[in-house]
Amino acid sequence: MKKILSIIGIALGIVSFVSAETKVDGEKVFEAKCASCHIKMITKEETMKILKSIKAPPMVEVSNQLKNNIKIVDDLDDEIHRAVVIAFIKDYVIYPTLEKSMCQAMALEKHGVMPSQKGKLTEAELNAVSTWVYDYYIGKKF
Ligand code: HEC
Repeated sequence: MKKILSIIGIALGIVSFVSAETKVDGEKVFEAKCASCHIKMITKEETMKILKSIKAPPMVEVSNQLKNNIKIVDDLDDEIHRAVVIAFIKDYVIYPTLEKSMCQAMALEKHGVMPSQKGKLTEAELNAVSTWVYDYYIGKKF
């Protein structure tokens, strides 16, 4: 009986581990791991005021660049565009390079290339935050 119970316990543990993995909150990950450099939400006027002190382009701007630069031949297919942009973000966070960056030359000159966040996020956090960035800034119109 004890054995069966512990097997059930292990099984439940695995199930809750897996569901915890898929329930990572992308917005929380953004706030914890990205917002120290990328301001979450700001107007153009506010950005101009604090431009000198920020470490990276605000996320609204980063997202606009991605939205305008990543084009899919069949532009009508939002799902493919979403998947490609999410894949780009996931890759960029771990392997940022000057060649890949779509940031404006001026911003790159000012901030330099983003430091790799390798080892700072789990795979689940990386998935969640990349998806959140797309859905929050690009998927929604504002
Ligand atoms: C230490 C500061 C710092 C942190 C932390 C940081 N970034 Fe960046 N990031 C930058 C800078 C600086 C740039 C602009 C230069 C560039 O494109 O590499 C940038 C650019 C980007 C770009 C734009 C790439 C492009 O092609 O235009 C994306 C996407 C991005 N960051 C996502 C993230 C996400 C998601 C996180 C959190 C997991 C994050 N960053 C954390 C500094 C940071």
